[in-house]
Amino acid sequence: MKKTFLDLLKQPITNSYLTDINKKSIKEEYFYNLSVVFDTDNYLVSLSKPVDPKKQYTDKYAHRASQSLTMRKSFKKIAKKLKLKFKPSSSMEIGSNDGVFIKNFKKKEIIAVEPCANLAKITKKMGYQTYAKFWDAKLANKILKKNNSSDLIFSANTISHIPNLKETFDAVNKSLSENGAFVFEDPYIGSVIKMNSYDQFYDEHVHLFSLLAISSLLKKSKLRVFDVELLSTHGGSIRFYACKEKAKYVINKRVKTLNQKELKQGLQNFYTYQKFGLRVKNSKSELVKLLKKLKKRGKKVISYGATYKSATIFNYCNIGNNLIDCVLDSTKNKQGKFTPGKHLKINPSGDGITKDIDYAFLGAWNFLEEIKRKEIKFLKRGGKFITHVPKVKIIGLQ
Ligand code: TMP
Repeated sequence: MKKTFLDLLKQPITNSYLTDINKKSIKEEYFYNLSVVFDTDNYLVSLSKPVDPKKQYTDKYAHRASQSLTMRKSFKKIAKKLKLKFKPSSSMEIGSNDGVFIKNFKKKEIIAVEPCANLAKITKKMGYQTYAKFWDAKLANKILKKNNSSDLIFSANTISHIPNLKETFDAVNKSLSENGAFVFEDPYIGSVIKMNSYDQFYDEHVHLFSLLAISSLLKKSKLRVFDVELLSTHGGSIRFYACKEKAKYVINKRVKTLNQKELKQGLQNFYTYQKFGLRVKNSKSELVKLLKKLKKRGKKVISYGATYKSATIFNYCNIGNNLIDCVLDSTKNKQGKFTPGKHLKINPSGDGITKDIDYAFLGAWNFLEEIKRKEIKFLKRGGKFITHVPKVKIIGLQ
């Protein structure tokens, strides 16, 4: 049974940055109700009504995984590790974005699957066999007609975006070689509950996974988890290593350890999520209170990183130009545009935070260390960051 524990109100599609804020574009902006449910049968946490993927993954998709140094390094490291561990002769990536992972593989050794046409173009140009389509049973069959089954299927921050997990996992099973490994990583619900990072809920994060939920879902597609890792990327992610039921892999003891940890955290109980829902409400009032106080004192506040996460916060907390001046971001195709829903102007972060700014809300709080290093001048002259994770607080130079 699906039970609702969180209502994040009316939200826009996070990737739909507005080029103009004239009457027409504001009128045409798409909103949906973002509420989150827990499935008591399989422990899966999901949005109650996912947005149609065709509205989200268009040829205007803005997110570039290779924008952040942290992510470039992380993909290079995992590519090296997986090649060493599984020695795959044929691999595939589901959701290849701008090629940040596959560029660590030889052209003939990996297939890219990416529904956003603008991104698929990039990996095609790089010389990789690219399918500009959504991952489903039909595509899996099409790929298998032309290629061998895969020794390695990798996917980062994509599986959790797909509404129909049964079809997704069935198609993976079909595409894997006998001892092939299916390695996928996505934001971790255990970290969200622990850090109160409710901004991990937005239209693209249709589900947030736990080991408990994934074990249950994979079983239905005759797959099983044989290893698992917790990662710090994206503010807390989980990487699953899965294979066919009968594949050779022995289950690592990390699986049992995490399973026990999740039971202790209560990820199998609706009550845990209900309590989280109350903490989110408190976080909202704390943040709004702080921003109002700073405004009253005449402080200038901006936001750092035009992230999807911050779209959830600004729309849920009703934070717009009344409290925040603008957003800084290093991504060229976001600059000059306006954030979805609240229409804050996005300016380039290139020259750093200017002298007139007193506070910067961390839209990209998961890159705090990278941002602190970049913005050391801001901190040295007394500038401060604001975050809501794990609770609303001010971060200065220490
Ligand atoms: P993400 O959390 O979806 O990866 O988005 C991070 C966003 O933050 C992305 O638009 C780039 C931006 N960003 C900066 O503008 N400056 C930075 O130093 C970092 C790390 C990210």
